[in-house]
Amino acid sequence: MQREASRTAPPEGFPQLPDVPAGRYVDPAFLQLEKTYLWRRSWLYAAHIDELPKPGSFLMWNKTGTPMLLVRGKDDVIRAFYNTCRHRGAPLVTQKSGQCEGLTCGYHGWTYALDGKLVNLRDKRDFVGLDMSQRNLINVRCERFYNWIFINEDLQAQPLLEHVRPYHEYFQQFQPDNWRWVHSSSHDVQCNVKILLDAFLEVYHLKSIHQNTVDRFLDHRGTCIDLYPNGHSLMVTPNRRPDWSDPGTRGMPRVPTATIIPDKNNPSFMFFPNLVTPLDPSGCPFLTFWPTSDTTMRIECTWFAPDWGPGERHPMWTTRIENFERILAEDLQFAGAIQQSVMSPGFKGLTLNYQERRIYHWHEELDRRIGIERIPAELRVTPRLEAWVERPQ
Ligand code: FES
Ligand SMILES: [Fe+2]
Repeated sequence: MQREASRTAPPEGFPQLPDVPAGRYVDPAFLQLEKTYLWRRSWLYAAHIDELPKPGSFLMWNKTGTPMLLVRGKDDVIRAFYNTCRHRGAPLVTQKSGQCEGLTCGYHGWTYALDGKLVNLRDKRDFVGLDMSQRNLINVRCERFYNWIFINEDLQAQPLLEHVRPYHEYFQQFQPDNWRWVHSSSHDVQCNVKILLDAFLEVYHLKSIHQNTVDRFLDHRGTCIDLYPNGHSLMVTPNRRPDWSDPGTRGMPRVPTATIIPDKNNPSFMFFPNLVTPLDPSGCPFLTFWPTSDTTMRIECTWFAPDWGPGERHPMWTTRIENFERILAEDLQFAGAIQQSVMSPGFKGLTLNYQERRIYHWHEELDRRIGIERIPAELRVTPRLEAWVERPQ
C-alpha cells in the first residue's frame, strides 16, 4: 500500500491500455452477444440458503430474462430448474417464494417432485407413447459457495469452486457458514448494467462523487489490486488512519478470525461477472448488477452478517444500511445522465488508467466468454493484462 501510494507512475512494464470501444456499451448486436454468451453461461449469485430454509422451500428466480426456480429437495439438496412445464410450457411457480410438497403446474396439473421428476399427470390414458421419465423438469447448474447459492445455465461450466478460486480459501477466515441474511434492497437505474458495474471496480471516483463520505476515510492512492483468472479481481483500499474503524459498525459482533487486511482495510471482491462485495468482519452487502434492458439495470444489495444468536439483529444495522444507501445514492446520481451521454456520438470509448485496470480485465474476460471470433473486429478488446494476472497454484 505504501508503495502504491508513493509511486510516481504505474509499475515498470505496465502496458498502455487501448481504448475500450464505445459500441460495447451501446451497440444492440454486441449487447445481444452478452445476453447469449455472458448472462446465460456464467455463474450468477442466486440466493442464500436462509431463503430456502426447509425441504419444499422454493423461490422464483428471473434476473436474466429466463424464468427459473430454486427448490430445496427432501434430501436437503437445493436444485435449480427452468420454471417451464414440460407439457405446454406454463410456469410451475408463480409466487415469489413459498413452501410446497411438489411442483404442480397451474395450467393442466402436471406434477413434479421436488427433484424435478414428473410424477403425475391428468388423463395419462390420452397420451400415446408418453415416456414420463423423458419429461422431467430441465435443470440448471446450481452449486454453493459456502451458504451462497449460484446458478449457471451452462451445463458444461467449470465447477463453481474451481471457477472462483482463490476466493473460497480467502473467505474461510470469515467463517461464512455462520453468516445469516440481514436485509435486502434494490434500485432500478437508467443505465446499461456495465456503466454502474464499472463504478464499483475502481476508487478513482472517490474524490469527486464521494468527497464528503467514503473519501474522508479511504485513501484511494494506496489501493492494491489483484487480478485473478476468469475475470475476478480484488481491490484493497487502505483506511486513511490505520486505527480507524467504521463508526457505523461500532458494537457489532465481528468475526474474530479475520486477518489484518480485511480487518483494518477495505477489501472489495468482484465475482465475475456481476457480484461485488466489500467484505467486512462485521458483515457486508452482496451487490449484484442485473441488466433489465440495453439501457436500464437493477442493483440489488443483500446484507449478510455473522450469526448474532437469538433475538433481533444489532440495533446499529438500521443506521449502517442507511449510511450505505446514502453512499449508493451518490453512485447512482449520474447514471441516467451518463447513459444519455454514452449514447451520443461524443462517446468514443473508455480511456482507462492503471488504477482502473479491473475494468479492462473484466472486458478481456467478456471477450473470452463471448468468443473473440463472434465479435466484430472494431468492438474487440485487445488482451493486455495477462502477465498481470495472479495465478493461484
Ligand atoms: S402446461 Fe403445465 S400442465 Fe399443461
Ligand atoms: Fe462509488
